[in-house]
Amino acid sequence: MSDEAKQMAARAAVELVQEGMRLGIGTGSTAAHFIRLLAQRVNAGLSVTGVATSEQSAELCTRLGIPLTNLDETPTLDLAVDGADEFDGALNLIKGGGGALLREKIVAGAAKRFVVIADASKQVAVLGAFPLPVEIIPMARQPLSLRLAELGAVATLRQTADGEPFRSDENHWILDCAFGPTITDPPGLARTLSTLPGVVEHGLFCGMTERVLLGSDDQAIVITV
Ligand code: 5RP
Repeated sequence: MSDEAKQMAARAAVELVQEGMRLGIGTGSTAAHFIRLLAQRVNAGLSVTGVATSEQSAELCTRLGIPLTNLDETPTLDLAVDGADEFDGALNLIKGGGGALLREKIVAGAAKRFVVIADASKQVAVLGAFPLPVEIIPMARQPLSLRLAELGAVATLRQTADGEPFRSDENHWILDCAFGPTITDPPGLARTLSTLPGVVEHGLFCGMTERVLLGSDDQAIVITV
């Protein structure tokens, strides 16, 4: 999928930003397009503040001149914009491919409007071809892997290039859970995962997304439920 499509989606999201807005700012390559385009408007005089969903996005915002705040100072956001790894027809999402799902969900939850930017490779009929990231406390790895197997997933500990466990910005581990495209009841699975001891957060975002801005090479279309 072309980078232009991601950029087109990001451009449509930047058009939603208005003077004085408090923004949630996502993570990943599509969100990075949003940050770069937002920075152009900020450098042209637009006044906004942002809460970043990862150290990576915070670093990019700071480098490009987008003022950042945090949820202590700014607990309610007007608009959050983020990418996704998959979305279905009900706008349920899988997120966390970049390992930022916990902060992403907190920020999306603090926002009055949560808008997803994506290209067509992220649109699916049934979620689950993309392994579902589940953020965990390290000591729970083995019991959770067994429980996730009972739920139909093969859980693999995410690792860095050096073979060390990947650490999220909050210093947790991530299990990438291969369900296959079988998640027919995302809210039900989300509820089940949230009850498992040792699960900090999971990458199913259900009932949170106001719209998806779906980019192609020459336009972005709006998808709502
Ligand atoms: C990071 C995420 C990203 O939004 C998701 O992985 C999409 O990334 P990209 O825009 O690079 O395809 O959830 O945790």
